[in-house]
Amino acid sequence: MVEVLVTGGAGFIGSNFVRFALRQHPDWHVTTLDKLTYAGRRENLHDVMADPRHTFVHGDIADAAVAGPLVERANIVVHFAAETHVDRSIQAAGEFIHTDVVGTFVLLEAARRATSLRRFVQISTDEVYGSVPTGASRETDELKPRNPYSASKAAADRLAYSYWATYDVPVIVTRASNNYGPYQFPEKVIPLFATNAIDDIQVPLYGDGLNVRDWLHVDDHCRALDLLIEQGTSGEVYNVGGGNEVTNRDLTTRILEALGKPLSLIRPVADRPGHDRRYCLSTAKLAGLGWHPEVAFEDGLRSTVAWYADNPWWWRPIKEQDAAFKAYYQAQYAARTS
Ligand code: NAD
Ligand code: TYD
Repeated sequence: MVEVLVTGGAGFIGSNFVRFALRQHPDWHVTTLDKLTYAGRRENLHDVMADPRHTFVHGDIADAAVAGPLVERANIVVHFAAETHVDRSIQAAGEFIHTDVVGTFVLLEAARRATSLRRFVQISTDEVYGSVPTGASRETDELKPRNPYSASKAAADRLAYSYWATYDVPVIVTRASNNYGPYQFPEKVIPLFATNAIDDIQVPLYGDGLNVRDWLHVDDHCRALDLLIEQGTSGEVYNVGGGNEVTNRDLTTRILEALGKPLSLIRPVADRPGHDRRYCLSTAKLAGLGWHPEVAFEDGLRSTVAWYADNPWWWRPIKEQDAAFKAYYQAQYAARTS
């Protein structure tokens, strides 16, 4: 069996990747290491928790006693675990430094000691390039992160690279654009707006709504990672972009239309401080390995919105019963509309 460690596997992309990996690779045994923060949920892995090829470990990546032995016995590490929400990083950055920076350091230290490790995938983000008014970021472009989330990810991205350059840890770094799909925590724009609209609640559109994101279906992201685990070159960075540049206003309109809801649900609110205007990735390097996104944005968005409509069991407990989430969201909303 190939031993695969997935950190953050109870989160959005991680849980989709665990499911994908178990389906795709009958010879893989996958261990999920996850702290189960507000964003990590056992429900995200409900259909694979009992799979004999999957083991779930509840723990913090920054806890060397827990994370170290798991990394040391792995053949492949796919490191998703992170604090990920920009708005939360603007409110309080401490957890972002703890997990995204210190946690990554702890995993890399263990990776130095590992004897059978053949791939360490550092999941980075397009946000490390900062806001790009024109053109498309290439892997060699300067990193100019502009909020505590993207700065913590940039630190981890370069720390991982340094462990390849210095200690020969078989690191590759991937920088993906905004992902969408099932099981995304409903603080992020697509699940938040879809679930609000299902209940006829207004959707808070920041600023002028003309910020641009490049949307990547999570399944296309998983396929890219799978390819790179085998065919990526250690020490290299790979952009993974969906090629779907959409303004937030256009995105919101499409979500509301998909649900048959009126545009009057759009509530313009105060902008996010330091709101990056646009991200855009050149994906020529990954295309050179034969990867192209397969999910057309129209189809992917429609099926994603339909997934939230069909699976209220998954998001209603968060939005209606999770007191911490309700307090967070109400405070955000009040601050932006006051
Ligand atoms: P998420 O917030 O949905 O999930 C993060 C997971 O990490 C959760 O399960 C959480 O419990 C876990 N976690 C947090 N701190 C931990 C710790 N100290 N120890 C162990 N587990 C911990 O995030 P996501 O959207 O799935 O993102 C996954 C990765 O992909 C992140 O590294 C993120 O920076 C990157 N990324 C995300 C996107 C996107 O659009 N979502 C785009 C590019 C890159
Ligand atoms: P988000 O899903 O938080 O991802 P990121 O900030 O990592 O790109 O936000 C996506 C875009 O949607 C971003 O430009 C901010 C905007 N947005 C809103 O307009 N309203 C919201 O309530 C949220 C959460 C985001």
